[in-house]
Amino acid sequence: MSAELACSFAGLALRNPILVASGTYGSGLEAAPFVDLAGIGGVVTKSVTTKPRRGNPTPRIYETTAGMLNSIGLMNPGADGFAEKVLPEFTQLPCARILNIAGESVEDFAVLTQRFGAVEGVDALELNVSCPNVSGGLDFGTRPEELAALVRECRARTRKPLIIKLTPNVTDITELAKAAVAGGADALSMVNTFQGMAVDWRRKRPELGSPSGMGGLSGPAIKPLALAALWRVKCAVNVPLIGIGGIMCAEDVMDFIVCGASAVQIGTCNFTDPAAPLRIAQELATLCQRESLPPLRELVGTLQVLRR
Ligand SMILES: Cc1cc2nc3c(=O)[nH]c(=O)nc-3n(C[C@H](O)[C@H](O)[C@H](O)COP(=O)(O)O)c2cc1C
Repeated sequence: MSAELACSFAGLALRNPILVASGTYGSGLEAAPFVDLAGIGGVVTKSVTTKPRRGNPTPRIYETTAGMLNSIGLMNPGADGFAEKVLPEFTQLPCARILNIAGESVEDFAVLTQRFGAVEGVDALELNVSCPNVSGGLDFGTRPEELAALVRECRARTRKPLIIKLTPNVTDITELAKAAVAGGADALSMVNTFQGMAVDWRRKRPELGSPSGMGGLSGPAIKPLALAALWRVKCAVNVPLIGIGGIMCAEDVMDFIVCGASAVQIGTCNFTDPAAPLRIAQELATLCQRESLPPLRELVGTLQVLRR
């Protein structure tokens, strides 16, 4: 694979800019026997919380036009379970290993950062301050002052790169991006899912079983919204950005790169094709060669918008 795909930012060296998105690929261990993870940039784990979580009542997944709604509710084995059952093998994966953490309080995030921010073989932490599917999950991600304070607390507890994952469920995402950077974020990833709902009008019931009846929308349906969020944040802050939202192919990746993404994450696409991250990385290499593109890092944020 072409070295021109390699990218490095915030102390993270990636073979190529293709990462898998949290919650859509387990911890990578499930796919490792079937997909050559040495061919992708990295894996982001499902969010890990301090205590185990059983998740929301079923159904938790609903297919929509050009996307899906999920209301998983951060089901995970908790920090102890993860450390015991997953971490030893996770830290051996042959690509960048990014551990995603989530909490209900500053203390939760601080404890998780302290614990996993010292583990050899974990290359970076991604802070999920943006889960729409748990009570309080959006509190930090929607309040700039609280977000800055949370990031500051975590920053003081690790030397590893801290990536803050932003929610699009706000009026002005740039306010949150600036707050995260002020708190000491090394990079931002965006976006998490958009709060949404599907209903069965005959039964007069939501399709999802979550307590609110709502879930998070992902997939190609959100790509234009994610691109707009990314571009606005790119124009507002000066840290590396990871683009997420509906990416299905190399052309989609290029759209995110010119809008300001140094790397991207593949999420919903993995549910139709678990080998998609590798396929997209290979497509990207072919595309770069075919079109004689310069190193991808030179194309980051090169979109030209004519402001009249
Ligand atoms: C089933 C499912 C579970 C998810 N779980 C998490 C999670 O635990 N933590 C997190 O930060 N994001 C989670 N996400 C959000 C994705 O990482 C990603 O931000 C979102 O799906 C948008 O990307 P996509 O359109 O490529 O799927 C989840 C998404 C899906 C579809």
